[in-house]
Amino acid sequence: MTTASRAFPQNFLFGAATAAYQIEGAASEDGRTDSIWDAFARVPGAVINADNGDVACDHYHRYPADIALMKDLGLQTYRFSTSWSRVHPDGGPLNPAGVDFYKRLVDGLLDAGILPWLTLYHWDLPQALQEKGGWANRDTADLFTEYALDMHDALGDRVNVWTTLNEPWCSSFLSYTAGIHAPGHYSNLEGMLASHHLLLGHGQAVRELRARDSSLDLGITLNLTVADPADAESPRDLDAARRIDGQFNRWFLDPVFRGAYPSDVLDDIRAVDADAVAQFEAAVKPGDLEVISTPIDALGVNYYHGELVSGVPAVSPAISGDAPTDRVAHSPFPAADGIYWHDRQLPQTAMHWDVQPEGLTRLLCRVSSEYAAPASTVLYVTENGAAYDDIAVNEDGVVRVHDAERSTFVREHLGAILDAIDTGVDVRGYFYWSLLDNFEWAWGYEKRFGIVHVDYLTQERSLKDSGFEYQRVIAERAL
Ligand code: NOJ
Repeated sequence: MTTASRAFPQNFLFGAATAAYQIEGAASEDGRTDSIWDAFARVPGAVINADNGDVACDHYHRYPADIALMKDLGLQTYRFSTSWSRVHPDGGPLNPAGVDFYKRLVDGLLDAGILPWLTLYHWDLPQALQEKGGWANRDTADLFTEYALDMHDALGDRVNVWTTLNEPWCSSFLSYTAGIHAPGHYSNLEGMLASHHLLLGHGQAVRELRARDSSLDLGITLNLTVADPADAESPRDLDAARRIDGQFNRWFLDPVFRGAYPSDVLDDIRAVDADAVAQFEAAVKPGDLEVISTPIDALGVNYYHGELVSGVPAVSPAISGDAPTDRVAHSPFPAADGIYWHDRQLPQTAMHWDVQPEGLTRLLCRVSSEYAAPASTVLYVTENGAAYDDIAVNEDGVVRVHDAERSTFVREHLGAILDAIDTGVDVRGYFYWSLLDNFEWAWGYEKRFGIVHVDYLTQERSLKDSGFEYQRVIAERAL
């Protein structure tokens, strides 16, 4: 039986994504100083195997070969982030040598015909700024805006697409409340303040960049989920789903698109930590939300899986943070008491994340109708991918990884995007996470997400079967 192939629209971009700390290495070269991740990686137990990003994929030195790989894959665009502490060591004056690396990288991409998609903040705050309170300190939002403008001074002539933040939920609640990501704090208040100051930095940067050049394509990337109630008739399960949706999705979507934090989430948190909410509300200054809701051109959606949740403690233990080591993890959700995760018996990746492509269709439809389309904002899937326990085999001197599950994962999620497009949702692209196996934060090098295998002993890169599959899909622009 043959099935008709499904074509992608002409305006749909195929890409892959990475982030500075996860791939660059060269941690103390050309003036770069510590970020919060360099410091956190030294905390015993913070990262599996005490791994760190000192060398990572050595992309800092190997970027020409990596660009050649991207070209070979047929990528139309490449989403990468710039390292703030390479560009402004210790959060101080501009470091021309650090900026030069990104000029070389971008020039290489342009020469290869690949659209550079630049993310300004992918979690690696200069450690010196953390010592002044990090994102819990409002000044960090202003410093971020200056950093954004400096990057635009340096690269504005050759980069048109700018994403301010990657997954601010992670760089606030997972980092300052759950203690799993750098800087590893356990505070509801700091998580809330961090989220606000991140969003403020986003809004300020968008305003300033737009004022400089109205033709820039500006946006933010959020990690979003679909939270389903285990029993759609159960008020407790419905409430559990509402709370997760609120703290994960609406806490960021509402201020960015509607200029307000969701009042039900504030009420939920107030019920468990009234002091944190009072201090948070005092920290939100008049005018902040207008800045945060400055219109954007593109919303990046990072989707990995959805959640099936319940208010009844029948199925699985109460949520805790997902910590890979024996480091204590708190819940990243300040008001998650009494929420339980259900096992849906779906296939899982090596992260124990469910494989749930249909969730992506529903998520894109919902985010489009409720937020993006009314604001004339276009959607991109800026991350989607899977870790599997890959086995590299040597076949006649060639390294191969037969990762059929990852190929299926990619095809199914691309299919889910086409399903959303078929219903009229304006999705303009897909970035597989990640181009390369890399430093998976608290999981170190143990989890491999790449479509390109990296041998960390030799730094040899080898296209996995999923890479060949993605290359075919891109060439045919169809599934
Ligand atoms: C989201 C993050 O942006 C990225 O840094 C991370 O490696 C992937 N998800 C996989 O966990």
